[in-house]
Amino acid sequence: MCGIVAYISRDLEKRDKIEDMLISSLRRLTYRGYDSWGIGFKGNNKIHIIKNVGDIENVNKLNLGFENSLIGIAHTRWATHGGVTKINAHPHLCCKKEIAVVHNGIIENYKELKEELIKNGHSFISETDTEVIPHLIEEKYKLCNNFEIAFKEAIKELKGSFAIVAIHKDFDGIACYRNGAPLVIGISSNGYFVSSDVVAFLNYTKKAIYLDDEEVAILKRNERDIELKIWKNEKEVKKEIKEISWNFEEATKLGYKHFMIKEIIEQPESIRNALMQNEKEMLEVAMEILRAKQVIFTACGTSRYAAIIGRYLFSKVARKFCDVIMASEFHYFSDSVDKDTLVIAVSQSGETADVLFGIKKAKENGAKIFSIVNVMNSTLARLSDKVIYTNAGPEICVAATKSFTNQLVVLYLLAYSMVNKFEEARSNIRKIAEIIKKSIEENNKNIEEIARKVKDKDHFYYIGRGINFAMANEGALKLKEISYIHAEGMPAGELKHGTIALIEKNTPVVVIAPKDYTYYETLSNAMETKARGAFVIGVTDYAHDVFDAIIEIPKVEEIFYPLVTIAPLQLLSYYVAVERGLNPDKPRNLAKSVTVK
Ligand code: G6P
Repeated sequence: MCGIVAYISRDLEKRDKIEDMLISSLRRLTYRGYDSWGIGFKGNNKIHIIKNVGDIENVNKLNLGFENSLIGIAHTRWATHGGVTKINAHPHLCCKKEIAVVHNGIIENYKELKEELIKNGHSFISETDTEVIPHLIEEKYKLCNNFEIAFKEAIKELKGSFAIVAIHKDFDGIACYRNGAPLVIGISSNGYFVSSDVVAFLNYTKKAIYLDDEEVAILKRNERDIELKIWKNEKEVKKEIKEISWNFEEATKLGYKHFMIKEIIEQPESIRNALMQNEKEMLEVAMEILRAKQVIFTACGTSRYAAIIGRYLFSKVARKFCDVIMASEFHYFSDSVDKDTLVIAVSQSGETADVLFGIKKAKENGAKIFSIVNVMNSTLARLSDKVIYTNAGPEICVAATKSFTNQLVVLYLLAYSMVNKFEEARSNIRKIAEIIKKSIEENNKNIEEIARKVKDKDHFYYIGRGINFAMANEGALKLKEISYIHAEGMPAGELKHGTIALIEKNTPVVVIAPKDYTYYETLSNAMETKARGAFVIGVTDYAHDVFDAIIEIPKVEEIFYPLVTIAPLQLLSYYVAVERGLNPDKPRNLAKSVTVK
């Protein structure tokens, strides 16, 4: 979704070339998903803007002559209000073109504000909700002639969930406000960054201040330095500077063709990082889960499939029943969420708006919130009573791969902690990481060949039973996300209650069939599809005639099969997308971090 980056230079002599910095920082945000981009500079008593639709990768140098500017704001837009056009791209300006704004999120009352502003003589050129912000600041500025005050007054009137960064042609600084969408300040030796995401400035600094909701930050240049002040409800607040644990190199392709294949291949290593958990803390969390009267997982997309696997694990290993509710639906159940409820939110980014909204509601009802999160200091992490980090490092490909696997590892550790077998699980999974490494190497070619055979199909079905049903869902989700083929994952037993009507000659059916407690029942369902002409692809460690093609998975202890099944499914979708000539890292219409409801 929309990405913000802004920069204010500390030192006149040692300043960085701001144009180059903003472009390279913007490029690092494009993984979040975007359709247009824009940059604004403060210079020569004017605000200068350049924006466009499409790819910023091809823009090498803007050559605007503003390398010497000391203040700039930039944005990648993922369209919500108004189509993908140059005019709708950010930054947006006020009537006099003196104030420029970039924004992530939604201004819910923009219609009312726009009508009022039009009555007061303002004219608008875009279809966005964002454009009301510079006009509103301009309106307040007329009254006080002070940008800082005007900004603070304007934000009081905005409703919704958003992050905003604004500049004024006469103000030697940057004004920021966070209310529901992430905003973090990076402190480098030469200046300050403001961004939606630390990845934008990770190669410049690892020192960051994370803004919380309703906080205003003003960064203002004085004689030789920059003054940073943060307020919440008009009171100045002191914030801690945090050290970012990620490395810049982790967020680069390191010679791989795509981030997706890099992130699939590095799973054995990221699994080892997921295992780095404190046993005592895990046991405590596990005991609280066991004690809770009602446990509900909430999550979106891939994270929800990890939660469903967690649900099977908790039941199978520890006989603890819990429910999984998709985050966008969760608050509709708030009547049943109370102080006896423990909510476990699962999220890679920790910024998914639906997840945050759901847990805020649950918190209001007195529920306890635990979370399983990848991004350190993310909003979800900060809102939770307890956090377990998945330690997958930065995941750049929009489609989740290693973050999913690491979520599973944490869920295994939790389930085993419930029966006091944390160390047993950890040592088993450590061995499995090695097995996965070998399996990826051995499987690669075969999966690529299968992908070539099926790449032109229009529909895919993925089936599995028990714990493998969520794997079928995740396999199907991966395929549709990056190859744009219609794919459905479902419990194998459910197939004959409708979907089997869609099976025709050569329809690919991917059967998740490890030799576990579900094998023979799943096989019967595979046969039913075969009898209707399906091309049956078995993901299995136990061959059978029903399979027209086999993706072999290694033999492991029954409960751990999901850990060895996932990489082959990810590879299949990767190769199908590549064979179709698509870039799997940036699927159309999708965003990595979905910060709107
Ligand atoms: C988006 C991403 C998915 C992800 C989902 C949940 O839809 O494209 O890959 O699974 O959001 O994101 P989260 O960060 O909460 O895990």
